[in-house]
Amino acid sequence: MSDMPQVETTAAPPMGLLAELTHRCPLQCPYCSNPVELERRSDELDTAGWQRVLREAAALGVLQVHLSGGEPAARPDLVELVETCAQEGLYSNLITAGVSITPERLAALDAAGLDHVQLSFQGADDVVTEHVSGMRGAFDKKCAFAGEVSARGLPLTLNVVLHRANIHQVDDFIELALRLGAERLELAHAQYYGWALRNRGALMPKRADVMTALRTVEAAKERLKGRLAIDSVVPDYYAHFPKPCMNGWGQQTINVTPSGLGLPCHAAQTIPGLEFWNVREHGLSDIWYHSPAFNAFRGTDFLPETCQSCDRLDIDHGGCRCQAMMMTGDARQMDPVCQHSPWHEDIQTLTLEEAGRDEPFAYRRFAKTARPA
Ligand code: FES
Repeated sequence: MSDMPQVETTAAPPMGLLAELTHRCPLQCPYCSNPVELERRSDELDTAGWQRVLREAAALGVLQVHLSGGEPAARPDLVELVETCAQEGLYSNLITAGVSITPERLAALDAAGLDHVQLSFQGADDVVTEHVSGMRGAFDKKCAFAGEVSARGLPLTLNVVLHRANIHQVDDFIELALRLGAERLELAHAQYYGWALRNRGALMPKRADVMTALRTVEAAKERLKGRLAIDSVVPDYYAHFPKPCMNGWGQQTINVTPSGLGLPCHAAQTIPGLEFWNVREHGLSDIWYHSPAFNAFRGTDFLPETCQSCDRLDIDHGGCRCQAMMMTGDARQMDPVCQHSPWHEDIQTLTLEEAGRDEPFAYRRFAKTARPA
């Protein structure tokens, strides 16, 4: 924050780098956590810029790189970047919509040393997929891509963001993951940042549906032990305790946006007054250890007394800073999802209201730029 002095830190190095290579994407998912104001192609780091970031990440101690977006395959240099990851000993995870990577390009990515593919599914059939992604034919393309990934022996994770429009398909997603040969299935309830926040009234599921989905997932985890690993992220608006967002601010992960901003989390820019440094002007290590934004909420000392005396302090670190800012106007507050928060009741009321709305999706897209007269 602007009134916060720059603090030297004893933080450990990050384990993960989320490299948002581009915000361009062939899909238009309304649950996307990218900012509503998407960064444009003309502002993206070039190949050499990203390669420098990857080399600096390895030197800093990063182990895993998540090549993400938008759709990372929209970058023509994706194979080169995967190659750099391999050269630097970085585990590379491609987070993709899987609708635009040809078998030949996948072969090139594989040859370049790609370690893992995380493929998103918006629906478990073509109707729901098309409705949520805004792209005709997306479901068949995703299934074909998953087949290619499995045929190459690359580890495959399916990732599903759950919300009102697809929560009835949990069983179908599990069947789909088995059919497509995935090793892992992530069922993550929508987190309301960026486009998802704009669409909260269209996405928020009803409590009864959330409970049914949770029971289905727990039963499947037990039933499919050893066959399919299922990770589930609970919907925090319905929870009593907050999620340990990012496993703590500036503790494990560094995000770099398409234009090179180093962020502690994907939504950090929603907190006013934070000063973010760009990889064009600063080394990644400098950003991690010394930038004001990364040091703004490191540790837990800034949290209120209720948190200091809570035995969950080291479990959830007071929850999400961005959510605290969004709901209370103060990023130093405890996450209002927490049952001890004075705002907890407000969240419950808001959740009920949002779940009862009937709003159309505002599909993710770039803002129109004004054309010169
Ligand atoms: Fe920013 Fe949780 S999304 S701290």
